[in-house]
Amino acid sequence: MLKTYPCGHDGEVLVDKLRDNLYVLRVNDKGIRFFEALWEIPEGITYNSYLVTGPEKTMLLDTVKAGFADCFLEALESITDIGSISDLVVHHSEPDHSGAIPRLLERNEKIAVHSHPVARNIIEKTYGVKLNNYRPLRNGLRLELGGDYVLEFIATPWLHWPDTYMSILEPLGVLFSGDVFGAYSVPSQLSDRGVDFEKYAWFMKKYFATVIGSYRDWVVKGTDKLEDYRNLFNTVAPLHGLVLEENVDRAIELYRFWGEKHTIATKATVVYVSMYGGVEKAARRAAELLASKGYRVSVYGFNDSERALVSDVLGDAIDSSLLVVGAPTYEASVVPLMKYIAELLCDKTGAGQRVVILTSYGWGGAAGKRLENILKSCGMSVRYIVEKHGSIDEDELVDAVEALTIE
Ligand code: FEO
Repeated sequence: MLKTYPCGHDGEVLVDKLRDNLYVLRVNDKGIRFFEALWEIPEGITYNSYLVTGPEKTMLLDTVKAGFADCFLEALESITDIGSISDLVVHHSEPDHSGAIPRLLERNEKIAVHSHPVARNIIEKTYGVKLNNYRPLRNGLRLELGGDYVLEFIATPWLHWPDTYMSILEPLGVLFSGDVFGAYSVPSQLSDRGVDFEKYAWFMKKYFATVIGSYRDWVVKGTDKLEDYRNLFNTVAPLHGLVLEENVDRAIELYRFWGEKHTIATKATVVYVSMYGGVEKAARRAAELLASKGYRVSVYGFNDSERALVSDVLGDAIDSSLLVVGAPTYEASVVPLMKYIAELLCDKTGAGQRVVILTSYGWGGAAGKRLENILKSCGMSVRYIVEKHGSIDEDELVDAVEALTIE
């Protein structure tokens, strides 16, 4: 069974039954361009909500972004009487999942709302609502839904906000994982059955780098904790992207790899900002030299006619061993766009990468030192800095790439 409810020009809600007494309601947001007003996602994103119809309780797990509230409630009504919903679980209160709560409570003010106390505060302050029937979550809490249906909670703070809980639904063996294991894109199917997962994993990695990258220490703690529960779930139901049925272990393995800041030895990312073409020429030549040495190289350029996506840069940089960062000096510093990118490279993807910095200037060089300070601040190993008056020559590029590739 699959029903679709249109939401204007920007999306739709899909409704399907995942298991007996478990439904997914998935908003396909095709109109979004910048997730969190930051991350370029032409591939779109989904917001997933789940409904459990236990023998005694009907429990909604998270909602969706506010702009989709009306069509979400219409879709919800197709599978249950909204007045019969007894409980709402807020695993994480970011508005992409809590935005429809005010409209839901208008329809049923008796719903018991379960969340971290921090989430209660966020919801009440953000939406100006009062959660009169509020119940705090705690690690190990078991909510009974009748029969042998139980939802057990696991505290997983900072994945991706401090309020985050995951939960496991017995006896179905489904882990509701919040943002964790989520991904950008609007896949045509609801679960990963038959999907080319390694291809889909790019969207998972891009989501990880942009949204969760700053919390990688917590990812390690969270995945360690999940190990204790691994025999209790066979399916992962995240708040974005596909429900995972066939690739649960692979997803956990990837999260551990990225969380522990491992990188791929043969992978390089080249990113440059070029005002008049000089840095671009040098950066692209460095990419050629790296490719000729057997590295898999991704190149992202920002110039006066086109721009790569910063979100894609971060998605590739997070597991690259080598980085080439190119930018000109601009007003006694580094060109502002590269300052922004370099700070994000550190905050979101810093994993001890070896780095070459390529800079040029007209009358006074400053970009090299500025970039070095930024990139070293997160433990990257700056191997070579080219700070060149005018154009960067081939000999210097060969030396820089040589320095970069020595382990
Ligand atoms: Fe998908 Fe952190 O919200």
